[in-house]
Amino acid sequence: MPNVLAISGSPRKDGNSDTLLNEFLRGMKENGLDAEVYHLRDLDIKHCKGCNSCFESGYCHIKDDMQILYARLEAADMIVLATPVYFSGMSSLMKQMVDRCQCLWARKEVMGQKIGPPGRKGFLLCVGGQREPVFRNIISVTRSLFNSIDVSYGGEVLVSRVDDAGEMEGEPSKLEEARLLGSRA
Ligand SMILES: Cc1cc2nc3c(=O)[nH]c(=O)nc-3n(C[C@H](O)[C@H](O)[C@H](O)COP(=O)(O)O)c2cc1C
Repeated sequence: MPNVLAISGSPRKDGNSDTLLNEFLRGMKENGLDAEVYHLRDLDIKHCKGCNSCFESGYCHIKDDMQILYARLEAADMIVLATPVYFSGMSSLMKQMVDRCQCLWARKEVMGQKIGPPGRKGFLLCVGGQREPVFRNIISVTRSLFNSIDVSYGGEVLVSRVDDAGEMEGEPSKLEEARLLGSRA
């Protein structure tokens, strides 16, 4: 049974990112797949200090909840990230988690190791309040992360014009897109 890791980066509980992620996970469940879900707002994840000690050890010495995620990020066959657009980027919660993956990057790029099982796939779910949110920075960072941890980009659902919590419920076609992406993952 594939090991699925879902990470939500919204500080807002039951907001639009969570709703979109739930729909993706519903699609996965239809396909018999269960995910382990983490909400970054509930975790204690400190920022990367740029000490580069991971270049030699391959591991991050900061002892916080990222240590839980490292094990999951390495073991996962599929990874799905959900984030709101914040100032044309991902939420700081999500970016902080991404930056802490520098030790995985180091293991791959500095130490020449493979990360995780072969054939890993990753997905991005993203919501923004503007008519035309800037998604490209988030896509770029996500691709960079996935690339660094040997995960291929499996697809995305990008939703604009959802701002207040609950507005995602009024986007049935996007919810369906997320469910379908999950069901085909
Ligand atoms: C600090 C902050 C920055 C934001 N920046 C953007 C932005 O650059 N572009 C955009 O389309 N929406 C922006 N938004 C709106 C959120 O993306 C939108 O409300 C989204 O639905 C929130 O998702 P959530 O309910 O999962 O937290 C911003 C919201 C906040 C709080």
